[in-house]
Amino acid sequence: MKGELRYEGKAKKVYATDKPGEYIVEYKDDATAFNAQKRGTVADKGVVNNAITSVLYPRLEAAGVPTHFLAQLSEREQLVKAVEIVPVEVVVRNVAAGSFSKRLGLSEGVLLSQPVVEYYYKSDVLGDPLINTDTAVTMGWATEEDLAVIRTLALRVNAFLTPFFAARGVRLIDFKLEFGKTPDGEIVLADEISPDTCRFWDAQSGEKLDKDRFRRDLGGVEDAYQEMLRRVISEADPT
Ligand code: C5P
Repeated sequence: MKGELRYEGKAKKVYATDKPGEYIVEYKDDATAFNAQKRGTVADKGVVNNAITSVLYPRLEAAGVPTHFLAQLSEREQLVKAVEIVPVEVVVRNVAAGSFSKRLGLSEGVLLSQPVVEYYYKSDVLGDPLINTDTAVTMGWATEEDLAVIRTLALRVNAFLTPFFAARGVRLIDFKLEFGKTPDGEIVLADEISPDTCRFWDAQSGEKLDKDRFRRDLGGVEDAYQEMLRRVISEADPT
């Protein structure tokens, strides 16, 4: 049963339940970009993002990535373990795009010779600034040990997702992860993995199948999200 609202973010609401160790996450259709300077809604985005995350998280668990996910409850709801979110957003990049291309003067689409892991401080007020691990430790956002676990898990997520999407005709360009800490101190993957948090390019055409369609006013946002859901639930599965 849904209890009191514990947290409302840009795309999700988190509710208490009658069990202290469990929360219900509700996915909304609200879309924001550029630190909420651009706002809109994408029809059924919450349904798609919940469905995709609910397929991926149990598979990631099986691939050795502990997660907060317990069960999909409905079209828009998930039951998750109650965790304290580590305020460090972790971005993994396989191909230059977005802020990485801009910062380093690289064309979008340049293949990186190895995955790059970046850390950002999760702060709406500051616009999620790029940080390094020393900053996170010094500011008390995470310990050195937690960050080592987070990096290993982030790369493990990438090693699972890259072939998973390739088998479905999608290049995984980059993505953002968030981690949480359980009451007994375990670091687990939290939040979502969806077209909101990843860059997905069609392997054949290069067409963008992710939130960049909303950010860059490319049109066809809903169709791209539905297409990603179709591919994720498709049978193709060498993994
Ligand atoms: O904008 P940037 O190139 O740094 O984004 C890298 C990846 O992280 C993209 O897949 C983007 O969708 C995701 N991201 C996110 N939430 C943020 C910032 C980036 O999901 N606050």
